[in-house]
Amino acid sequence: MVLNAITNRKSVRLYSDRIVSDEDIKSILNCGVMAPSWVNVQPWQFIVVKNQDHKEILSQAAGGQKQVSNASAVICCVADMSAWEADKFAKIMEKQGRNSQTIEYILSSTMLNPSLLGEYETLLRTVEQMSYAIGYMTLRAEELGIGCCIIGAVANELTLKDKNGFASVKEMLGLNDKQVLLSMLTLGYEKEIMPVRKSRKEFDEVVSLEKLGSKF
Ligand SMILES: Cc1cc2nc3c(=O)[nH]c(=O)nc-3n(C[C@H](O)[C@H](O)[C@H](O)COP(=O)(O)O)c2cc1C
Repeated sequence: MVLNAITNRKSVRLYSDRIVSDEDIKSILNCGVMAPSWVNVQPWQFIVVKNQDHKEILSQAAGGQKQVSNASAVICCVADMSAWEADKFAKIMEKQGRNSQTIEYILSSTMLNPSLLGEYETLLRTVEQMSYAIGYMTLRAEELGIGCCIIGAVANELTLKDKNGFASVKEMLGLNDKQVLLSMLTLGYEKEIMPVRKSRKEFDEVVSLEKLGSKF
């Protein structure tokens, strides 16, 4: 039940030594792969890292966050801007059954094709798509009883932290300059089950009817 997963999911940062199976990692990844995206462009790549030395390097890139090196596995979530290149974008639309006229229309529309606007706009749209995939993966992990934590504080093109450091992380992961390590999803079994504490803004603070500030 998705409501259970949403209600019970929490960021888990302390893991036991128990290994998360490849079968479960694949099941989590499959939920990311099935997420919706803008014109179905799917501008993502997911790289599973289990090698301890590589996890240590990723932990360093995340400012030394221990949950990265202690996780059983880390899913590196890569924003792939090259997915918007006309030939790749057109191919995915063809696969979905769109006709050439529609494809041409989408490719030439600045509203539908952010790559016409520039690198920044493309990155922005790509990051937007990633959130759905990562969100889905967190819910599947919860459903499987696997703890996870999204790690967004990482040296990359968005944080501009440690430029040399992120160049070597990119090399380790095999990324090119159109591919950004946006965030990581650490996976592991919770060391000691902690209660779920949802510290959130009040419903009425963020939900309105018809006009901002009008209560629903
Ligand atoms: C995009 C994003 C980036 C995040 N980056 C980090 C991070 O680098 N390190 C960390 O410990 N938690 C990180 N978190 C987890 C948040 O701190 C956490 O979701 C928030 O405090 C709410 O707690 P909950 O997940 O337990 O409900 C991130 C969450 C999101 C959505």
